[in-house]
Amino acid sequence: MTNTTNTIKHVASPLARQTLQDSDLTRPVAGIRPIRILPWLQVVKIGGRSIMDRGAEAILPIVDELRKLLPEHRLLILTGAGIRARHLYGVGLDLGLPVGSLAPLAASEAGQNGHILASLLAPEGVSYVEHPTIASQLAIHLAAARAVVGSAFPPYHHHEFPNSRIPTHRADTGAFLLADALGAAGLTIVEDVDGIYTADPNGSDSKQAQFLRETSIADLTKLKGTLPFDRALLEVMATARHIERVQVVNGLVPGRLTAALRGEHVGTIIHTGARPV
Ligand SMILES: Nc1ncnc2c1ncn2[C@@H]1O[C@H](COP(=O)(O)OP(=O)(O)OP(=O)(O)O)[C@@H](O)[C@H]1O
Ligand SMILES: [Mg+2]
Repeated sequence: MTNTTNTIKHVASPLARQTLQDSDLTRPVAGIRPIRILPWLQVVKIGGRSIMDRGAEAILPIVDELRKLLPEHRLLILTGAGIRARHLYGVGLDLGLPVGSLAPLAASEAGQNGHILASLLAPEGVSYVEHPTIASQLAIHLAAARAVVGSAFPPYHHHEFPNSRIPTHRADTGAFLLADALGAAGLTIVEDVDGIYTADPNGSDSKQAQFLRETSIADLTKLKGTLPFDRALLEVMATARHIERVQVVNGLVPGRLTAALRGEHVGTIIHTGARPV
């Protein structure tokens, strides 16, 4: 759509003459639903603390389950950080490092966990890929293999919001942002508990903890205690475009992840802000 008048080349654009600050003006152009880039992709986030830190006892059964899922699903497996990131935070905070320096240190542990999973799934053609590859070459990797592994941490680094000394956007937020941006078929978060409770089932209020089979961002925002994922996940779920629900499942119980990927309700389903078309 180019016009040439008096040798001056004009590029016609619906946003050319208006401020991007005015949502009434941008909505007709920017308000449409984005396309789904990988609509058949299932994203699975494996907990760093809840699964990977437990070693072989927890990792080998989940790897076996993932291996058996490959003929059925094409997977992006994302790993969280665990105990080594906690140690890094401790040392870094003691030294006064800013949050933007701490974020990549923790992210590197999420990557280490990813490398571990990818090594175990390598005979099936699965490899670990870095964020730039996920951003631009995921489709070709998934054409060559049924799954790839990556770090669930978002690559915010020095862009991390300075509202907390500990990075607020961690593995759960990163996994959701990726799944929604890719327009994936679903996101399943694998933990060491059956799902979300009204209080930490392993904490001091465990007697009061009630299991939530189905919940929403609004309900979870009202819960004042801890959650089994970073609270920033609630914010990014509120503005989701594609992923309408996320299921949190217990990866220590064989078969739960498989059932969740088959669409069964076996953990806690969280309804996000995304609306069906
Ligand atoms: N409301 C809650 N419902 C369920 N579990 C909770 C809740 N609050 C806290 N938890 C605890 O969260 C634990 C999981 O911890 P966390 O989410 O930090 O691990 P992770 O997901 O493996 O870590 P990472 O995000 O680094 O991958 C559970 O074992 C449980 O004790
Ligand atoms: Mg968690």
